[in-house]
Amino acid sequence: MARTLAGDRRIVEFLDLLRKNADYASGQSLAKKAGISRSAVWKHIRRLRRLGYRIESLHGKGYKLEGDTEYPVPWELARVLKTSHMGKTVIYRESVQSTQNLAIALAEKQGAHGTAVIAEQQTGGRGRLKRKWLSPKGGIWISVILRPSIPTATSTLLPFVAAVAVCDAVREATGLDATLKWPNDVMVKGKKVAGILLDLSAEAEAVNYAVIGIGINANVESKKLHLDREGRPAVTSLSDELGHPVNRLQLTGLMLERLEQYLVLLEEKGPATIVALWRKRSDMLGRQASVAQQGKVVSGTAKDIGDDGSLIVATAAGDVNVVSGDVTVSY
Ligand code: BTN
Repeated sequence: MARTLAGDRRIVEFLDLLRKNADYASGQSLAKKAGISRSAVWKHIRRLRRLGYRIESLHGKGYKLEGDTEYPVPWELARVLKTSHMGKTVIYRESVQSTQNLAIALAEKQGAHGTAVIAEQQTGGRGRLKRKWLSPKGGIWISVILRPSIPTATSTLLPFVAAVAVCDAVREATGLDATLKWPNDVMVKGKKVAGILLDLSAEAEAVNYAVIGIGINANVESKKLHLDREGRPAVTSLSDELGHPVNRLQLTGLMLERLEQYLVLLEEKGPATIVALWRKRSDMLGRQASVAQQGKVVSGTAKDIGDDGSLIVATAAGDVNVVSGDVTVSY
């Protein structure tokens, strides 16, 4: 069972009380049963509504839970998750500067393997290459602390593990044909729908901790994400592609399950297995590609992915291994 924080426990107990009542329950009876004041009842109702629960109120009759939430709140994740470590501890915030920074601070204080930090919105979300990551409400903004049993040299594969996990979860939860673009972009119909960020603390031999940041444009209007995207892939969101919202709770649960599964695969079978999974989900290999890398542009055919996660580009002057940058692919 996942760990539940004290504040969460109170709201979960109150929620259970609402769930037990098939009909309306008065504020007074809820207060009595929960052993709290009427104003505490009202505060719980307000918070639950803010967290996506549909609670009807009728004058003279009280409150009734009409619909559950799709927000990835810790206690609902605990109900759906079938993992041993991933998401067993969830820190949930309605708003935070960056889940990544909060997760790093927790990892520095011995935060456990699999701890997930989730926020409804980020005010200073970080992307790759020191870019901003716009993170309005409706997305899935999550950072997971990993303490993997891998040599430091293998850590470049961690974002690939996450990208494969997100790709599979998006396919399963939405039926959309998600694909992967090097290094770790999850794409739908040629537009970016999710990105991965890795922050690492490691010694020469072993990884101390890694924080994997995952941003999925779930239920956001993609026109809100278009600021400052010059030279970067066009973006989309799952809700824009589907024409309706996606269940973020289900998608987050699936993604954490796949993350655990593929991380174990990396630990037990090594990089080649993950690279093979990545290749299967990508449609960019064999195509014309150019990569902007520190002011230089490498152009040629996207030939393969190395076991260190580098992109091998076949150029007129021979094969070039690219380790970071943005790639433009001609389809
Ligand atoms: C990219 O540039 O493609 C990576 C984007 C990663 C964004 C996620 S959202 C959750 C986590 N917190 C952050 O500040 N960034 C990552």
